[in-house]
Amino acid sequence: MSGIELASAGQANTARYLPAMRRALELAAKGPITGGNPQVGCVLLNDAGDIVAEGWHHGAGTPHAEVDALATLARPEDAAGLTAVVTLEPCNHTGRTGPCSVALLAAGVARVVFALPDPGARSGGGAEHLRAGGVEVISGVLAVEAEAFLHPWLTAISRGRPWVTVKWGSTLDGRAAASDGTSQWITGAAARQRVHEEREASDAILVGTGTVFADDPSLTARGAGGELLRHQPVPVVVGEREVPADARLRRHPAGLIETRSRDLAAILAELDARGIRRVYVEGGPTLASAVVAAGFADEFSIYLAPLLLGGEQLALRDLGIPTITEAIRLRLTSIEQLGDDLHLIGHAIQNHAVPKEN
Ligand SMILES: NC(=O)c1ccc[n+]([C@@H]2O[C@H](COP(=O)([O-])OP(=O)(O)OC[C@H]3O[C@@H](n4cnc5c(N)ncnc54)[C@H](OP(=O)(O)O)[C@@H]3O)[C@@H](O)[C@H]2O)c1
Repeated sequence: MSGIELASAGQANTARYLPAMRRALELAAKGPITGGNPQVGCVLLNDAGDIVAEGWHHGAGTPHAEVDALATLARPEDAAGLTAVVTLEPCNHTGRTGPCSVALLAAGVARVVFALPDPGARSGGGAEHLRAGGVEVISGVLAVEAEAFLHPWLTAISRGRPWVTVKWGSTLDGRAAASDGTSQWITGAAARQRVHEEREASDAILVGTGTVFADDPSLTARGAGGELLRHQPVPVVVGEREVPADARLRRHPAGLIETRSRDLAAILAELDARGIRRVYVEGGPTLASAVVAAGFADEFSIYLAPLLLGGEQLALRDLGIPTITEAIRLRLTSIEQLGDDLHLIGHAIQNHAVPKEN
């Protein structure tokens, strides 16, 4: 058989599983975006290709997607001969739950189809374990979509530091505060509500000591009525000064991490060690500039208000860029009007943080 025939035979084999993988990705999105573990979905198919069970990962410490799907079968023996279609390679490691590769083998599935290999140094290797146990394994189905979906988590795991989103709200002329330091509120209610949603989708919020002293922010994630949202990211104060004893941050429901340090690489490494995968940098300008200048900004979330302030209080300070050819270039992936404000999401092209296109 020629190479071309081999390739098309392989594609036909994987094309069969595209609808099931799309469903598995939908299920994955039901799981929490925060909490250290990836969002993973799984469906179990019978010989006719019908979905007989669905599952997803509900968060750290709970069963993984494969085990969640297996648990919905009426009897454990019903798993024998089924095909498991899962968005990420079944893990091969015992953490708070057992390895999924072992669970799938024990259940007697005939075939495992997955989109992406598990990049984790400790959790990878599930495919080999399954093959060694006699299970057929097919990988790479809908891999581009799955990579785009899990991009922040995959980036965090491969770099050994959290995915970093730098957010600021500024006037159209790029000012983050007035000359007297006041910045509440540059943007309107709709933009501020979006910020609360972005906080809720983060594991940690980074803020500089300057902002803590200037604004005494609470940094909670709140709904439109002021109520606390379900998930609260932990605030992390960056800088050498101590947070005042009466600061609102000391009453944050997720606690408070005081770094007493300006060493961003060390702080991000420590957050990674705590299982923090998504960090939201809320400024102020000194901290945001340091994060960007150090090349840690994977994503930008910029709110532009139709105001002009002029003056010295720029949203970003010196980035150490001497000339226009060395500018940090962003690819804008979203532009949205929120009330009177504009919300832009961009990814730095230089550090290859842009999700691959389909
Ligand atoms: N529009 C917005 O989106 C927005 C957001 C936040 C704040 N603001 C405004 O920004 C103003 C405060 O600005 P800011 O720049 O002083 O605040 P900042 O960035 O929150 O804090 C600056 C302080 O952080 C510490 N720091 C932490 N990491 C550092 C690093 N890598 N390099 C240098 N210093 C580091 C330093 O203090 P130590 O001496 O403690 O190390 C520094 O003085 C306020 O007016 C506030 O209202 C605006």
